[in-house]
Amino acid sequence: MDELAQSIGPVMCVVGARPNYMKTAPLIRAFRADPGAPRTMLVHTGQHYDVAMNDRLFADLGLEAPDINLEVGSGTHAQQTAEIMRRFEPVVDDAAPSCVIVVGDVNSTLACSLVAVKKAIPVIHVEAGLRSFDRTMPEEINRVLTDQIADVLYTTERSAAENLRREGVAMPRVHFVGNVMIDTLKAGLQHAVPPAVVFANNRVDMTLLGERRRFGFVTLHRPSNVDDRESLAEALTILGEVSHELPLICPLHPRTRANIERFGLWGLIDGRRTIALQPQGYLETLGLIRDATLVITDSGGIQEETTALGVPCLTMRDNTERPITVEQGTNIVVGRDRSLILRCVAEILAGVGKRGRIPELWDGRAAERIVAHLVPWLAQRAEPIYA
Ligand code: UD1
Repeated sequence: MDELAQSIGPVMCVVGARPNYMKTAPLIRAFRADPGAPRTMLVHTGQHYDVAMNDRLFADLGLEAPDINLEVGSGTHAQQTAEIMRRFEPVVDDAAPSCVIVVGDVNSTLACSLVAVKKAIPVIHVEAGLRSFDRTMPEEINRVLTDQIADVLYTTERSAAENLRREGVAMPRVHFVGNVMIDTLKAGLQHAVPPAVVFANNRVDMTLLGERRRFGFVTLHRPSNVDDRESLAEALTILGEVSHELPLICPLHPRTRANIERFGLWGLIDGRRTIALQPQGYLETLGLIRDATLVITDSGGIQEETTALGVPCLTMRDNTERPITVEQGTNIVVGRDRSLILRCVAEILAGVGKRGRIPELWDGRAAERIVAHLVPWLAQRAEPIYA
């Protein structure tokens, strides 16, 4: 390790919730591969804590156990954000990091950025500038605020810079590097678990899939789809209709499962056509997405993964913060528009669905580009002014 790497504090990477892990894993690997880079330190806020939501993914992604786990758990947004801040502050004081790297848009992203910026520690935001323009989404608030206080902003698509410019972010702070989530996808693809193995492990009766073994893959967890009875019932009813055309495999997020239970909606799920699973590991999910005939989701990351894999994706939301997946990729934003969804499904099954191409710099090397930019940036900051 060279002089700089020894003389400045660690690069502190923060994760909190499931979608953060796939973005941080390639970054840590790329820092470790650079002998001139400072050491990395991984802090987990504990926003997600279930074995299914957490431990399995760490193993799949080759992420070592975090150096520190703040174990904040669940709560209201205010409670969770406040608790993360309270517990993160002494960790930062203790480690004196050279920067704090946050990814994505979860509550942990904003909470840790706020703590760091007030201590004059540079905040590096990976996946900056994405906007749904829907301020009812908690993630949109987290994105806008994190980007305002970040020192360096790395973007996944060119439209992000325009969003940031409009919000007054200085352009020299913004760097288009591509998509770290696709780095993970590319590295993981050869290890993806075949759906037949997932079905066997979950005791799914393969005859449900019919002769052609075709299936749709579904994930829903956004508050707008699952937090009130009417919306969730509407979503499940539409999915029920889709399932008559194509059997559906649905790993259920804990919040979705809890709400189906609470609202008494299990009756809307026909177990002969729709298979509800526990949350799956990363490599299982990758295999299911890759081999699905179509995907229906409200996840941000899965919109990108389907575009990268060329799998048709229907996004059950009214908007997307990832417009490139629609403009260039396989994604169609369908909301809970029953007739639109059924029409899209019919087209996909008939082989005349939308096709796409791989967006610029979604090439598996985004983390490398971030490290190549950030290490000299940190070195420059560390130099005494009158050296
Ligand atoms: C969070 C992110 C969302 C991301 C999602 C991925 C925010 C605002 N939202 O939403 O952007 O797409 O993670 O999953 O940060 N729960 C468990 N076990 C867990 C974690 C949560 O049972 O390990 C249950 C709890 O009942 C909890 C609920 O899920 O109240 C919601 O968890 P929370 O972390 O608040 O948000 P997510 O819906 O997971």
